[in-house]
Amino acid sequence: MKSPRHIAIIMDGNGRWAKERGLPRLKGHERGAESVRAITEECVALGVEFLTLYAFSTENWKRPEEEVAGLWVLLEHFLEMELPTMMKNGVRLRAIGRIYELPESTQAKLAQTIAATAKNPATTLILALNYSSRTELADAARALATEAAAGTLDPATITPDTLSARLYTAEYPDPELMIRTSGELRLSNFLLWQLSYAEFYITPKLWPDFGKAELREAVASFHARERRFGGL
Ligand code: FPP
Repeated sequence: MKSPRHIAIIMDGNGRWAKERGLPRLKGHERGAESVRAITEECVALGVEFLTLYAFSTENWKRPEEEVAGLWVLLEHFLEMELPTMMKNGVRLRAIGRIYELPESTQAKLAQTIAATAKNPATTLILALNYSSRTELADAARALATEAAAGTLDPATITPDTLSARLYTAEYPDPELMIRTSGELRLSNFLLWQLSYAEFYITPKLWPDFGKAELREAVASFHARERRFGGL
């Protein structure tokens, strides 16, 4: 059966995974990065064209400085270690969010990896970093208002597509399947607009325990549903 074109995931539960084992939270994030590797590989195997991962929200800056700094180091390390595999598997890296507010070294590593993988033809891995949906929508509203004030956009012609085209995700199709690990029934400011018609799959598994078999199960559950898009 045809896989969803675009899967979006809220990777939750790294902290709980570590706590259950009496480990520091960063150990949970390290194991979480291993799940990122496995899930990306499986998306390539399943022919999923786009995979968006919520890696850092605009609210995550409120965490202890040590954890925040550790996450950026982990991300930089991950990008460096994974580049050969991404090249081998044809993974194209992209990022959404206010990337210009990240540490300089993280921005540089991201830009370098995005450039190196730009022509890869398999799955596009989109990392949501310093991302929140309301910030994205506010940025899009500002862009529209600026164009209207400059006289290059007639407000009367604005449609949902006009707005979609100003989102960070303008180039990507909407996700059909949204997965959230560790059981929370919330959207947490993630792709509010883009997930309008997505099927939600919530699993009690913590993100470090979410592997290839779990992804296949989520995709199978997606296939078992009937999607009507408001029709009959
Ligand atoms: C949520 O778990 C996870 C995060 C806020 C960070 C996600 C980061 C990774 C999976 C690793 C690095 C990312 C990449 C792309 C290599 P939590 O800490 O909120 O868990 P808790 O709710 O159990 O405390």
